[in-house]
Amino acid sequence: MDRPSILVVYHSAEGQTARIADRLRAVLDAEGLDVTCLTTDAAPSPDGFAGVVVGDSIHAGEHSKQLTAYVADHVERLNAMPAALFQVSLTSADDSAESASEAGALVTKLLDATGFDPDLVGRFAGALAYTRYGWMKRRLMHQIMRREGGETDTSRDHEYTDWDAVEGFAHDVASYVASAGQD
Ligand SMILES: Cc1cc2nc3c(=O)[nH]c(=O)nc-3n(C[C@H](O)[C@H](O)[C@H](O)COP(=O)(O)O)c2cc1C
Repeated sequence: MDRPSILVVYHSAEGQTARIADRLRAVLDAEGLDVTCLTTDAAPSPDGFAGVVVGDSIHAGEHSKQLTAYVADHVERLNAMPAALFQVSLTSADDSAESASEAGALVTKLLDATGFDPDLVGRFAGALAYTRYGWMKRRLMHQIMRREGGETDTSRDHEYTDWDAVEGFAHDVASYVASAGQD
């Protein structure tokens, strides 16, 4: 029997969403799915796939134009098939109710802007990738972290991603696609 095919489409400015997409790819592959994992600029239309996962990070309180455009361009197809969204941010590194509501509001803003209605939504903490920033971005993030009480050691990166949560999300996506295929 053919393995059900799944498309993972993501946009990553500094690499953490790419790492998370790659972990999803590995888990979905181990779950028996035939996975295509690509950035928004290389991704095909969702046509012909049994399911789609789209992922994006937050910068300056916004989802990326690239992921928003991909979702808006394919929203009818996405809403008619098993589809999941994951969001990566530093807001989600803080487990307060206020931060959860802030990250959730940014998901809602993306869904309102595009009309997307995903079956599953994951919100993951990203990374403070000081060594991967240019000097301007490093200075800006250092200032923000000093103000907000975050990590200020710019000599290394600080990763907050809960990999067990990422893998749990991948298992949920695999189960959802499998159950939708039995309809
Ligand atoms: C310039 C800049 C602005 C950011 N703005 C926000 C923000 O407004 N809210 C937030 O929760 N995280 C913010 N972040 C954190 C990113 O979402 C986090 O670093 C994430 O891991 C980036 O994912 P990426 O490497 O896939 O782009 C910002 C990061 C940078 C570098």
